[in-house]
Amino acid sequence: MCGIVGYVGHKKAAPILIHGLKRLEYRGYDSAGMVTIDKNGANRFRVVGRVQNLDHAISDIDLKMTCGIAHTRWATHGKPTETNAHPHTDNEGRYYLVHNGIIENHAKLRSQLESEGVEFVSETDTEALVHLISKFHDQSLETAVEKALRHVEGTFGIAVTCIDEPSKIVCGRRGSPIVLGVGMNEMFVASDVSALIQYTDQVIYLEDNEMAVVTPDEYQIRTLDNKPIARETLQIEWTMEDEDLGSFPHYMLKEIFEQPTTVDNAMRGRVVLGEGCSKLGGLQSKIDQIKRLKKIVIVSCGTSYHAGMVGRYIFEQLTDTAVEVELASEFRYRKLRLDETTGVLAISQSGETADTLAAIREARRKGALTIGLVNVVGSTIARETDVGVYCHAGPEIGVASTKIFVSQLVILNLIALLIGRYQSVSLSEGVDLLKAMMELPSQIQQILSRAAQIEDLARRFTKVQSFLFIGRQLHYPVALEGALKLKEISYIHAEGYAAGEMKHGPISLIDADFPTIAIATKDATYEKMISNIQEIRARSGPIIAVATEGDIGIRESADMVMYIPETHDLLQPILSVIPLQLFAYYCALYRGCEIDKPRNLAKSVTVE
Ligand code: F6R
Repeated sequence: MCGIVGYVGHKKAAPILIHGLKRLEYRGYDSAGMVTIDKNGANRFRVVGRVQNLDHAISDIDLKMTCGIAHTRWATHGKPTETNAHPHTDNEGRYYLVHNGIIENHAKLRSQLESEGVEFVSETDTEALVHLISKFHDQSLETAVEKALRHVEGTFGIAVTCIDEPSKIVCGRRGSPIVLGVGMNEMFVASDVSALIQYTDQVIYLEDNEMAVVTPDEYQIRTLDNKPIARETLQIEWTMEDEDLGSFPHYMLKEIFEQPTTVDNAMRGRVVLGEGCSKLGGLQSKIDQIKRLKKIVIVSCGTSYHAGMVGRYIFEQLTDTAVEVELASEFRYRKLRLDETTGVLAISQSGETADTLAAIREARRKGALTIGLVNVVGSTIARETDVGVYCHAGPEIGVASTKIFVSQLVILNLIALLIGRYQSVSLSEGVDLLKAMMELPSQIQQILSRAAQIEDLARRFTKVQSFLFIGRQLHYPVALEGALKLKEISYIHAEGYAAGEMKHGPISLIDADFPTIAIATKDATYEKMISNIQEIRARSGPIIAVATEGDIGIRESADMVMYIPETHDLLQPILSVIPLQLFAYYCALYRGCEIDKPRNLAKSVTVE
């Protein structure tokens, strides 16, 4: 989604803005722009395509200004063109605005402003806001912004500058993140901490319906109705090294290979082996309520939803609490009957996904206990849930989520075990699960050491048009996740199915050109999976199986096999997903796709 960067201080703003935009590239965008200002006026540059083009456009110009704002745009209203790119300005070229989110009443605002003589040049919703700010021109920029925002419906994260006050940025937030970075006589503004971490680890997140006035030496936060807010800075835990590619060609591959560490990080300090239990400080304040919940509803989107689907099986096995899993985009609009006996568990890497955030807000309104399982520390979902657990997985930059999925699965096991030990899980069951969890990092390492074999396999399938992924029980969501990974980065059509559904439709697709990846590990559903595989083979469909190490027999049914080590049943998805991530990665690589930034996708989906 769109990204915002702003700088006001004593250094040249342009290189800092470009660096910040580059750090936000992973979020997905299609055009970029920046403006730097001083008392003499403004220099604005906008390009279609990559930030590199913007960098190129300013390479021969010595921009000395020490204040500016910049933006990467992911088109919603109007095509990706230079005119539609941000920053937008008013008819006099005094105010400049970058905006994330959607101004829902932009059409009404536009016709009203046009009737007053304002000329619009772009097709965007954003432009209406900058004209509105100009219309409310006042003694100070912040007053003009505040007045204009009163007329805006929809969501926004904004940064605004004005040539009359060239050492000031005003930002505001409703539904779209804004974070301030505090330096020495310099201040930063961004939509994501990634843009700031090179310069400062002291940040402040704006809450919804707040604005900030930022100058080189200070920041003032207030509500949109002008009530001052005192807020201390937070120290962020990520460093630049976390975001370095190192020797990897892509972030996705780097993140796949980080998974042994990701699992370690998810478990660190949280395993109490002697008690067969987990310890999750973030849930402690509500543990009496949590262990007595009648129902837990897991809400999430995309890969996090697939983690939630695996979570349903885990909670069913380990707890006596009823559990449901819902797409956040559906849940938020349902007629919900929730109260304090229901826990709503929101799973989100970014902690900013619009639908998941709306789902927990709705759940809170209805009186449910909200629980967050989030990676990004300080993100909105992390702040707005009653209690929560962090993944501590470091930044995930590749648009296709990999390491966070396994982290989420580890933590779902820990949460369910914590609850289950107050219910019917025995000490020895708890100890067995935890011991198996402690083996995971070295088992993942084993799978990764065979990446070259998976690469060979993937290379043979790069011309294929469609793929089917099938699995049963805990491997059904893994099949969905394998299909999602393949389609989102390689653009090969892929579908995930519960294997038991084959005869109810999808088997009609099978022929010699339609391969299937079948997750058939040694567990209670193994024999049934073998039957599914045979049925596909009987129709000449090529089969790649994900199977348990030592299962030589499966070679009689499958054409090709990717082996994973044996583990506790509840942990199998953590291993079975890894060959599928690698398979998708190598298919995309050999098809020449832009792996870390797949077309049309954004890392953090902050609009509905
Ligand atoms: C797919 C992917 C997305 C996200 C989804 C939810 O690889 O990354 O499907 O999982 O947009 O995002 P979060 O977890 O940030 O709420």
